[in-house]
Amino acid sequence: MIPDGQTLSYDAAPAFSTPLRFFITAPLFGAAAGATLLAAPDLLDSRWTPGALAVTHLVAVGFMLTVMLGALFQVLPVVAGAVIPRSGPVATVVHLAMTIGAVCLAWGLGSGSHAFLVPATVLLGGGLALFVVAAFLGLRRIPVAQATPRDLRIALLGFAVAVALGITLALALGGRLDLPLLTVLKLHVGWALLGGSGVLLAAASWVVVPMFQITPNYPVALTRFWAMGTGAVLLVWSAAVYGELGSAELALSAVLAGLCVLFAVITLKLQRQSRRSVPDMTTRAFQIGMGSFIAGLVCVLVAQQSEHQVWPLLAGILILHGGFVSVIVGMLYKIIPFLAWLHLTQDVGKAPNMKKLQPDSPIRRHLALHAVALAALLIAAFVGNAWLIRLAGLLVVAEFALLLANIIKVLGNYRRAHAA
Ligand code: HEM
Repeated sequence: MIPDGQTLSYDAAPAFSTPLRFFITAPLFGAAAGATLLAAPDLLDSRWTPGALAVTHLVAVGFMLTVMLGALFQVLPVVAGAVIPRSGPVATVVHLAMTIGAVCLAWGLGSGSHAFLVPATVLLGGGLALFVVAAFLGLRRIPVAQATPRDLRIALLGFAVAVALGITLALALGGRLDLPLLTVLKLHVGWALLGGSGVLLAAASWVVVPMFQITPNYPVALTRFWAMGTGAVLLVWSAAVYGELGSAELALSAVLAGLCVLFAVITLKLQRQSRRSVPDMTTRAFQIGMGSFIAGLVCVLVAQQSEHQVWPLLAGILILHGGFVSVIVGMLYKIIPFLAWLHLTQDVGKAPNMKKLQPDSPIRRHLALHAVALAALLIAAFVGNAWLIRLAGLLVVAEFALLLANIIKVLGNYRRAHAA
């Protein structure tokens, strides 16, 4: 069911290869994060180890940001009516810059050879800047009042702020800048996980949850005010962090956590009202995701009161792997077969049913493996045992390999149907 007042313009859809290249390279970074855990289990000794920072960015930039940018090449023209100028060549440059940049960033953070951080900052900064400019050129004629295009703008600005702060941090680590690292780090994490990723997830959910999961629409008040409200509180929180106003920062962190829990709880509530008799795999993935966000936010608040190093680790695993990876995987299993179906219908006039292009059982196997990997990561981080961490790493490699295999299978079905 498409939300009221929302129109989808499939004629403006970019070539299938434009978003697809992002969806194909992203799982490789997820697998690399698992392989790093397998090779160097001591990286989970604390959130500050070079290995932990490398794994964080293999997942956050290599997987999450890559899929989100790929999806935006599709969502902006089709959902927001914002046609990105020359989207094919722009996608090629952005994809190359983000892919090589993410490899350099992870290697630079993980190996401590900060020489890699300069090319990382140039490529990631340049790639994202090109995308943000192209996206805003596409959005310039779209009225700001519409919820999804407006919230997509806020998310793009959130990412721009996050990446600018990340680049500043990387240059400081390389000894090229002298600045209050912890302050900038807090701002970077807040803008990256909420200002960019969180707001983008919400803006996409306003459309895809009712559409793909056959639920009622989100409450109008939420779609109208959540992203702007979150952005406004994030700005005030940033001033409190920069001004080192401890109690104001804590209070505003709690307000931000409350806004995130509100989004997660309303999403879970809508899913329970779905007209689907049996919840599908995307609904299951969202349920894992929303539950992980809530648990992760509790760990963030506990970490602010406790010295124990395990809380920030659990928060990171729950929010990144349990939260964002789950919902992104859930969306990929809808978006990719849908795009294959759309392009087949447009190119050859007919297409197999989406369930034929992407059957349920491979998704079920993957989600089960993802849930096991998440549990193994949490137990391994809590216990701190090297063999448990290696096992968790192996499971993470397996789940991203299975995701990639399932994506390639859909492409095989698409090619066969196209040839037929
Ligand atoms: C694309 C450009 C980016 C660059 C250059 C970058 C760079 C950095 C650097 C240098 C650090 C701090 C390392 C330290 O304190 O020693 C850091 C921390 C962090 N970054 Fe990024 N980052 C980028 C993007 C992102 C994105 C897109 C996300 C999430 C969506 C993200 C999430 C994080 C997190 C969670 C931490 C904190 C890790 C911890 O404290 O355990 N970063 N980043």
